[in-house]
Amino acid sequence: MAGPILVGVDGSPPAAAAVAWAADDAARKGTPLRLVHAVYRPPHGARSYPIPGLDDALSRAGGEFLREAEEIARERHPGLDVSARLLEGAPARVLLREAESASELVVGSRGRGGFAGMLLGSVSGHLPGHAAVPVVVVRPGRTAEDATEVVVGVDESEGCEPALGYAFEQARLRRGGLRAVYGWRPPPEVYAGYSVFDPEEAGQLRQTLDVGRIAAWRARYPDVRAEVEVVCDHPVSALVDVAAAAAVLVVGSHGRSRIGAMVLGSVSRGVLHHAHCPVAVVSSRHSSPR
Ligand SMILES: Nc1ncnc2c1ncn2[C@@H]1O[C@H](COP(=O)(O)OP(=O)(O)O)[C@@H](O)[C@H]1O
Ligand SMILES: [Mg+2]
Repeated sequence: MAGPILVGVDGSPPAAAAVAWAADDAARKGTPLRLVHAVYRPPHGARSYPIPGLDDALSRAGGEFLREAEEIARERHPGLDVSARLLEGAPARVLLREAESASELVVGSRGRGGFAGMLLGSVSGHLPGHAAVPVVVVRPGRTAEDATEVVVGVDESEGCEPALGYAFEQARLRRGGLRAVYGWRPPPEVYAGYSVFDPEEAGQLRQTLDVGRIAAWRARYPDVRAEVEVVCDHPVSALVDVAAAAAVLVVGSHGRSRIGAMVLGSVSRGVLHHAHCPVAVVSSRHSSPR
């Protein structure tokens, strides 16, 4: 059986949305749901002044966050195998360690910290690209609960194979359609200084992607309706627009232009900031269930 789905909770509305998304996913996959809250206690010496009772208050609050999260999950799926753990340490580090025995890690886009205009928190910003399992970042409030469509970002490279595997599996479980989207702009004309979109060129590109990247997955998932779309736009805008009402937008951790030390490609980073729907970042180290 696949490992549990792990959710980081911190009592925030985005974390509550993450719990709901993860509980639904666990119910679909038949895997347990594991809730984790990490209590981070800065070392005493690092505090400018001691706060009496702080340690107790942090643990109590953490316990309360976990209880609330458990309630959300149980209410949605009464039969679900749900467990909760209060652990000590820096949240991102704790979640990465716990994710080693999980099949997926789900967090909210924001938490209780940060400031009003921030699109991505420090924990949700750090995990994608660092975890070996798929990391799903959920932004609350914008996605229809009954959405079934899965959108995946593709390019010509083999780097998108793990993302395609995850996306086909999600589409199969949700009995929804799959749209594989390639955001592409032809190079600017040397003289004109702007790009000329040639529908024929786009059509050829679509055909190449269909045959080269999608056909083999279609054969493995005959029940999934999968279509390739070439959109003449920046990949981040193309994906954010097409996936506006999707159940999940799937991207790899890196694209074609992998730069050695970068933990996350620019498209993955961009959609994490700007997509309205949940975003799954699938590491190149991840292999699909089929
Ligand atoms: N202490 C924690 N323990 C477990 N998960 C956490 C913790 N803090 C944050 N998370 C998870 O990470 C998500 C994003 O929070 P975070 O990155 O800390 O944003 P912010 O900077 O706005 O607080 C939360 O919605 C939650 O899922
Ligand atoms: Mg936080």
